[in-house]
Amino acid sequence: MAYTNILLENKDSILYITINRPDQLNALNKQTIEELNKALALADVNPEVRVIIITGSGEKAFVAGADIKEFSSFSIEEGRMLSRSGHKLLFDFVENMSKPVIAAVNGFALGGGLELAMSCHIRVASENAKMGLPEVSLGVIPGYGGTQRLTQLVGKGKAMEMIATAGMIGASEALQWGLVNHVVPQAELLAKCEEIAGKIVKNSPAAIASAYRAILSGYKKYNAGYEAEIKEFGQCFGTEDFTEGTSAFMEKRKPVFKGK
Ligand code: COA
Repeated sequence: MAYTNILLENKDSILYITINRPDQLNALNKQTIEELNKALALADVNPEVRVIIITGSGEKAFVAGADIKEFSSFSIEEGRMLSRSGHKLLFDFVENMSKPVIAAVNGFALGGGLELAMSCHIRVASENAKMGLPEVSLGVIPGYGGTQRLTQLVGKGKAMEMIATAGMIGASEALQWGLVNHVVPQAELLAKCEEIAGKIVKNSPAAIASAYRAILSGYKKYNAGYEAEIKEFGQCFGTEDFTEGTSAFMEKRKPVFKGK
């Protein structure tokens, strides 16, 4: 398959996936999500791939979120479908891969970008990385698993503050919070991921897949939160605040919310 928005390279049992829309800060539009799904599905059954590293093109952004321009005119039902299909094609898909997926967070990881990093099994950030879930500043909520995975990683208290303030944290704070596992200078980011991958490939792929299934089953079994997130995300698309928030972003101005 030919890919437009991602670059792939397979080397030493590692598949490197680079999200490649740098002029839009690698924002995740529908096509990019579909391409990532296809590449990941093929990697999962390819015996030559043992570890996957996902990063963003350029030095500024990992992924600056879901593509706001693409969804700004969606209805409630379309919003709900966007969230549901994103969960299925990418965010749940990554988390349930049988091979370790490492996020090499090389800059902004916002909204869907942080949600993608949080779906990966291991996160390594460069010193210039900035992370946040700014959705409420657009009149919407995290809709790709962020309400659940951020809470799992940093705890309810920090997740509630981070989501409600729409604020960004830097790499060292993310490390302190347990949101990322390692922080390195940007020039050493891929080398650090490769060092981790090098340790992984010495171990049993079948046992790693078993361990990951066991870890994840503890988080998934009784979690109604993902379904609630999809429903709440869709509802936001019917509000005046959503129209105001997304319009303000595209018009490069500050939004004025009315709470309606
Ligand atoms: N969706 C669509 N386009 C996006 C985007 C997104 N999530 N994030 C950035 N872009 C686009 C910008 O619209 C701009 O495109 P343009 O040149 O056609 O106007 C381009 O990427 C560069 O972004 P810009 O905002 O000019 O860069 P900046 O350095 O001033 O700011 C950010 C960087 C990351 C702070 C800013 O782009 C931002 O806040 N992005 C949205 C983050 C967000 O809310 N994500 C959650 C989405 S649910």
